[in-house]
Parts: sequence; C-alpha cells; structure tokens
Amino acid sequence: MQALRWHIQDDAEAVARAALTYMINAATRAIAERGVFHLVLAGGSTPKRVYQLLAQAKPDTRHWHVYMGDERCLPADDPERNSKMAFNAWLAKDSMPREQIFMMPAELGPEQGAAAYQQTIANVGQFDMVLLGMGEDGHTASLFPGHHHDLEETVHAVYHSPKPPPERISLSAKRLSQACQVVFLVAGHGKQEAVQQWREGVDLPVANITPEAGVDVLIDRTAMGE
Ligand code: 6PG
Repeated sequence: MQALRWHIQDDAEAVARAALTYMINAATRAIAERGVFHLVLAGGSTPKRVYQLLAQAKPDTRHWHVYMGDERCLPADDPERNSKMAFNAWLAKDSMPREQIFMMPAELGPEQGAAAYQQTIANVGQFDMVLLGMGEDGHTASLFPGHHHDLEETVHAVYHSPKPPPERISLSAKRLSQACQVVFLVAGHGKQEAVQQWREGVDLPVANITPEAGVDVLIDRTAMGE
C-alpha cells in the first residue's frame, strides 16, 4: 500500500522551489547522520527547473552522490538525454566530484546499459532522496502502464516506450522504493486525469512506488484540478 501526502502549490515554479527546500533539508540531515547524501534525479520539464534552482542555490555538494532514475537510450551527448539535461541545468556548473555522479550508460542500449547500472548501484543501499516526475498516462521514471518487468530486478531494460525514445533504462519500482524519501513533482493541466486516477487508487506505475515512509507529492493547483 502506498501512503500518499499531497502538498498543493500555486504553480510549477512553487513546486520546483518546494522541491529545492526538501532536497536541501534531506541533504543536511543525511550528511549529519551518515556523512553522505544519495540522490536520485528525474528527467522531464518540472525537475529541470529544480536543477536550475540548484545551480543558483549552490549547496555544498561535496558529500552528494547523484544517480538517475531513468535514462533514454540515445548517444551520450544527445540533448534529449536526461543526464544531459541535468548536466546543462545544474551538474556542469557544480563543483561536486565527478566520480560521485553516476549516470546510466544508456548509449550501450537497454540490456547492456541496465546490466552495467545494476552493478553501479549494487552496494548503494537506501537512497536518501528519490525525485520523480509523472507522465500524463501515470508513468514514472520509465515505468509505463501495461509494461511488465521482472519484479525482482533493480534496473529494467525498457522497450516500446510510448514517450520517445522507445528504448530506455529505468530503476524498478522496488528499487525506487528503497528510499528514505520519495518526492513526486507534478504540474500542469495535462496531468489532471492521471492525478484523479491516482487518488482513486487505480493501479498506475506511480502508485507502485511504496517506500516505507510514504511518498510526498508536490503538485500545482492546475494538476490537482483546482
Ligand atoms: C523522462 C522521465 C519521465 C518524466 C515524466 C514527467 O524520461 O522524461 O523520466 O518519467 O519524469 O514524463 O515529465 P514532465 O515533468 O516533463 O511532464
């Protein structure tokens, strides 16, 4: 069962600003307690704004370790890559040690890339924070409605994605749920129907992320249907 907490914000900008605050607080707590902050990034337009805000806020990221929740199988430098977006918006401007940035090698293709990333995260344990977006069909990361995966896997090779490109790599619902805090960023009119279904308990990919602490949804009024 997924425990859900809805945090309604005025607009997409307020969603991004609230996410920034969550992130800074989570990092401060994790570093004080364990000396490291394991953060999983999301692709998509709403998270992109958070990365731009991070580039401005310049938190002390010396102890941050950054991962990707999903990636699009395109050449490493393709502007449509989630990693490229995160680099352009934030990481390229940050002084975090490069060996603490763990991107998915999606240029290898879904199978090989997923197998490699499985090794990369094998010893990571609980993530401190997982950021996720939600698509208009209720997908999250690259977990799409109607797709079936081996539920024991930590990283999936994804084919036939309805959102381009068709080939992707995604952390599994199980692995994304191994987190102290999961935060969804949801904004815009196009998300209303999926949000309503999510609230009604429909079995969407977003509903399959079930960390012990529950999930926080930062959502703007429009997506909430207000
Ligand atoms: C991607 C993402 C995807 C995204 C949602 C929401 O590859 O684009 O990982 O899961 O987070 O589709 O994207 P928006 O915030 O752009 O609506």
